[in-house]
Amino acid sequence: MVRSGALPTRLLALKYGASLVWGPEMVDKAILHAERVVDPITGVISYNGKSRAMFTTHPIEKPYLIYQIGSADPELAVQAARKVMQDVSGIDLNCGCPKPFSTHAGMGAALLTNPDLLCSILTALRQAMPPEITVTAKIRLLPTQEETKKLVERIINTGVSAITIHCRTRPMRPREKALQERLNEIVDFVNGLGKDIAVVENGDCTGYDDALRIRRVTKASSVMIATAAESNPSVFSPNPVTNVDKELVPSYLRLAKYLDNHWANSKFCVIQFKSSEDTASKAEKHELKELISKGKGYNDMNSVVGEWTGEQELQEVAKAIQTRTGEAVFAHEPMPTSAEEVSAVQSVSSENEEYGMPTSTPSNRPNPEPPSSGAPLGPSNEARMPIPAIISGSDALTPTPTPAAFNFTPA
Ligand SMILES: Cc1cc2nc3c(=O)[nH]c(=O)nc-3n(C[C@H](O)[C@H](O)[C@H](O)COP(=O)(O)O)c2cc1C
Repeated sequence: MVRSGALPTRLLALKYGASLVWGPEMVDKAILHAERVVDPITGVISYNGKSRAMFTTHPIEKPYLIYQIGSADPELAVQAARKVMQDVSGIDLNCGCPKPFSTHAGMGAALLTNPDLLCSILTALRQAMPPEITVTAKIRLLPTQEETKKLVERIINTGVSAITIHCRTRPMRPREKALQERLNEIVDFVNGLGKDIAVVENGDCTGYDDALRIRRVTKASSVMIATAAESNPSVFSPNPVTNVDKELVPSYLRLAKYLDNHWANSKFCVIQFKSSEDTASKAEKHELKELISKGKGYNDMNSVVGEWTGEQELQEVAKAIQTRTGEAVFAHEPMPTSAEEVSAVQSVSSENEEYGMPTSTPSNRPNPEPPSSGAPLGPSNEARMPIPAIISGSDALTPTPTPAAFNFTPA
């Protein structure tokens, strides 16, 4: 998500169980002239523009990170993807943003009515990216099921590994209820194509339990959570943090300070945090809000963050990922420093732990495990890199059967 999907939020989402995280949409051109700089202490990788970092990431999120592009030009999209591909695991094309800043340039939801252009961007990305980088698209529902299915089929034939469907149509406002009931038929349609493409539901998911319900009723492979994760990045956990002010806010601020996240962004994100079960009193909440609103920098938050350091906080994220994957993840492995060495919030949460299955790419693999499909790839899909088993629920390349359909996603 723009603004809310910055690095600290993504890392907290991963800590609390998200399977994948989407970066905020970046317009293709915006990243092209950025300078890639690695902080040797924290490992943070920044793509710096003239006056600010356009995009930041950290190597520990790479196996789970999808970089989202806003584009209306295949060539620019490819250039943008090439710029960041060493630091990410997938490239997603945003075809759902209805805001004028996106649509006036033919990007976002404008692509929904220009399927030739939409598909040419995806085709170009698929051809340009190495197989280990997934290419995916995020769309909205079209007015009718038939139109939606037609578009979905065209998108699938470009070789994408997965498609996220925001269950609202372009004119629908966020406060209108998502049309989750329309997805089931589309999932059946996609499955009927026999190409093992994951369909990710998006719209109105409130957290872990709700994601289970949505997966059940829509048959989607996974669920992307946006607004609920913006309010509480721990909603991917079956036991989300309820003490937002005393636990989540300090944790976020420590991490954000350590990662040198821009204060204005951190302030914005923290102000969005809330929980329906928060135990803090009204007076305590008011006091914290005042402190944050008036804060001019992290040092003004010292009374909130406590003794713990941001470095410890990052180690906690690494530990949580390690617990889920069973593989060591080092928050401080030697960091790549040159271009030859190898970057919702949108995210996916998973219940894989219940199955005792690994939930993500082992740390010694640079990208999500090459998945597989039960079905042969059609000619138009030769370049296709299927979505990781964590999303698709199947992995034919490894002999271990993975339980089908057990994922959710944050945006
Ligand atoms: C502040 C904000 C920023 C967003 N930024 C993005 C974005 O960068 N890319 C994108 O695909 N969707 C973006 N969205 C849309 C969400 O990803 C999602 O499609 C929408 O909010 C519906 O999901 P939800 O009901 O879980 O919130 C954004 C939404 C909000 C409220």
